[in-house]
Amino acid sequence: MKKHILVIPGDGIGQEVTQWGKAALAQIAKNFGHEFTFDEALMGHAAIEVTGNPLPDETLEKARKSDAILFGAIGHAMYDNDPSLKVRPEQGLLKIRKELGLYANLRPILLFDELLEASSIKADILQGTDILFFRELTGDVYFGEKSRSEDRNTASDLMIYHKYEVERIAHKAYQAAQQRSKRLCSVDKANVLESSRLWRETVQEIAKQYPDVETEHMFIDNAAMQLIKNPKKFDVVLTANLFGDILTDEASQIAGSMGMLASASVGDGVGFYEPIHGSAHDIAGKNLANPLASILSAALMLEISFGLKEEATTLVNAVDKALKDGYRTGDIADQNTDTAKVLGTQEMGQLVLTYLAQ
Ligand code: NAD
Ligand code: IPM
Ligand code: MN
Repeated sequence: MKKHILVIPGDGIGQEVTQWGKAALAQIAKNFGHEFTFDEALMGHAAIEVTGNPLPDETLEKARKSDAILFGAIGHAMYDNDPSLKVRPEQGLLKIRKELGLYANLRPILLFDELLEASSIKADILQGTDILFFRELTGDVYFGEKSRSEDRNTASDLMIYHKYEVERIAHKAYQAAQQRSKRLCSVDKANVLESSRLWRETVQEIAKQYPDVETEHMFIDNAAMQLIKNPKKFDVVLTANLFGDILTDEASQIAGSMGMLASASVGDGVGFYEPIHGSAHDIAGKNLANPLASILSAALMLEISFGLKEEATTLVNAVDKALKDGYRTGDIADQNTDTAKVLGTQEMGQLVLTYLAQ
């Protein structure tokens, strides 16, 4: 199979981890006789520095021409420390999601048994957890009108949903639920927010088309609590952009670390694959970042965009073997880890490649 992949490393640890997602794809192509070609493009602070624009036109053009995109992370402490800056790295990510119509962000909570002890949640509570989040990605308060009063003392972000935006992601989530354990939990704040009442109403309507799927509606505050109390109770979780952003960072602790969670953003055309974590200023440039979320994002690309299930499984198994053999990056090491097996970004990336090449 011939495929052209655009790699957008972005900023901070995005640069460090994405090279390993890319290298894993190249090794898979070699193993299975595929022809993957790669190009690179700028986004975020890296793009602002060179072009003044967090999403240069050239990046968008390359993205539209590619068969899939592997993205790292964007962000820089400079903007986080100065909210008054008008041009910001995050604008690049939001714009590319909107431009490419990436309205559904799939965030699987893939729990490797070897990492049960790496979580701050008790192993018996975690064991058997398997959740697939559907986070709406191109609507909500992220894209509603923003304003600031002339005296700068009042600010507003409009939380807005259109019915068709809820319908299209709900269909995707229900279709996934049909393939899994036929349970779907829709998370909202319909007791307070009008946009959530539209969300709930719409999901209730769509649910009628999937009578084989058991639907539950839950308020976001309760869901945040239940996720930690009893994560096994969830299977497919369908939620809005902001709630999904927050809930999935929380859910990363079920899998052991932010460094383990991959995601797939899909919608109207090309698929976009990204770890859920950010540019992590606190560890950037120190060879400390876990590259497995990027490698697992590459596995999602193989499966979802290219339909290469066996190749995707091979990649996940190579990650699993590294963990089974006791290797860890610092974020997933625990009291039982042999300190000689605590690896840096480069060493963990290389280890997975070595297993793939065997
Ligand atoms: P973050 O996800 O970058 O980091 C949160 C914590 O998780 C940090 O302690 C970090 O060290 C740790 N962590 C994250 N990824 C890790 C990995 N692969 N291995 C080991 N540890 C990891 O979130 P933040 O600190 O709130 O944000 C930092 C910057 O990243 C901000 O500028 C923010 O806007 C941006 N951001 C970007 C994205 C994205 O590009 N998709 C996502 C989230 C945050
Ligand atoms: C994510 C990030 C982004 C989001 C930011 C950086 C715009 O947190 O991908 O989860 O909120 O969607
Ligand atoms: Mn986030």
